[in-house]
Amino acid sequence: MRRKIIAGNWKMHKTSSETGEFIGRLWDAMGRKEAHCEVIVAPPFTSIAAAVDATRGGAVKVSAQDVHWENQGAYTGEVSGAMVKDSGCSHVIVGHSERRQWFGETDESVNLKIKAALRHGLIPIFCLGESLEEREASKTFEVLERQVSRGLDGVQIASPDRLVIAYEPVWAIGTGRTASPEQAQEAHAFIRGGVGSLFGRELGGNVRILYGGSVKPENTRGLMSRGDIDGALVGGASLKIDDFMGIITESA
Ligand code: 13P
Repeated sequence: MRRKIIAGNWKMHKTSSETGEFIGRLWDAMGRKEAHCEVIVAPPFTSIAAAVDATRGGAVKVSAQDVHWENQGAYTGEVSGAMVKDSGCSHVIVGHSERRQWFGETDESVNLKIKAALRHGLIPIFCLGESLEEREASKTFEVLERQVSRGLDGVQIASPDRLVIAYEPVWAIGTGRTASPEQAQEAHAFIRGGVGSLFGRELGGNVRILYGGSVKPENTRGLMSRGDIDGALVGGASLKIDDFMGIITESA
């Protein structure tokens, strides 16, 4: 049984004080106990310490939004896996489409970052997904196959809980246009098959694959009812307590 994950990717939002306050309120909304699913928030680097302070013994986990692939060195502005781990994060988002689009991330850099995350005991939340152009040209599966095989090339995964995958079709991010449950399920099943052929059916069958792209409380239940959808990576709606809590509740 794969336990669901609801993760909030805050992108470039929330200062330290806003982070502490948000997690305090989220904890209250959760009834001050663990939810049915794993709950993760991914604040900007500068708010990680405040998030870790506020996570109340781990009922809310903290993820970074990126990591560098080297252990240390002359890389101005970058943050290493050791630093992310030391800051108290359990997870790190790798390969988000905004980083691929605006910051030159490639399948190769994503692959190095996944390896760095694992090397430092972090669980990578490996993002992939096709653009609108690729979907309209019927290239979705070709793109997903390339992203999975290159992103995970040479990666060693000790157990299925050491990796999380997030299918985020680029055309659904921040657009209000969610993939239908059928579209998402089809992509998730394909990705699971790809992971299975790389690492074996046992790992493929147990790895969690999240959907991301305009997830809201109203569309959560439909998406989560599909067999291969194991949770959500939420952008905009994770910034508001009512919406984020609504998604947690609806995913049960
Ligand atoms: P939205 O939920 O705002 O569409 O963003 C999704 C996303 O990019 C999560 O990583």
